[in-house]
Amino acid sequence: MAATSRILTAVLFLVIFSNSKGKYQQVVIEIAGKNENEPAKIFSESELRQFDGSDSDKPVYLAVRGVVFDVTEGKDFYGKGAAYNQLAGKDASYAIATWSLEDKDMHHDISSLSDNELKGLDDVFIGTYKKKYPIVGYLQYLIDKHADKVSERLRGEL
Ligand code: HEM
Repeated sequence: MAATSRILTAVLFLVIFSNSKGKYQQVVIEIAGKNENEPAKIFSESELRQFDGSDSDKPVYLAVRGVVFDVTEGKDFYGKGAAYNQLAGKDASYAIATWSLEDKDMHHDISSLSDNELKGLDDVFIGTYKKKYPIVGYLQYLIDKHADKVSERLRGEL
């Protein structure tokens, strides 16, 4: 019995999300805390906005597909006054997928994207963000969208 519950805990730690609506199968997102005793850090959108680069004493965060990255190392891109500062402090997956810096595109609703755009987004997600920047947490919308699959442990409720 104890062994079974240990296995269950291990399985629940790894939650896998992917989108298979069109032909293109989006890259899988795994949610995990920093270590097995720590739940994953979950950000609200207003919490994430505190890290938009306007306060130089704070790190700079941005999210892609609901995954929050610490992009402080990329301050030249995302810091105050930098070319991609609009992308900081939020999840602008739609803007990244469509190569836009327009205000109206600064959101994370990617449901209207073509397979090519979804693939482009994943290329940046993997090739730039996951490769260059540490993950610091996940946005609440990602957890809510997949509430049925996310264990209480990951939500920090245990
Ligand atoms: C005239 C248009 C543009 C030019 C010339 C340009 C140029 C560049 C250059 C030179 C880099 C740095 C590559 C590197 O050093 O690794 C870069 C990175 C990037 N660009 Fe652009 N860009 C343009 C438009 C855009 C637009 C419209 C977006 C909208 C989302 C965008 C998003 C990005 C992102 C997300 C990165 C990665 C930054 C990082 O490594 O953290 N770019 N771009």
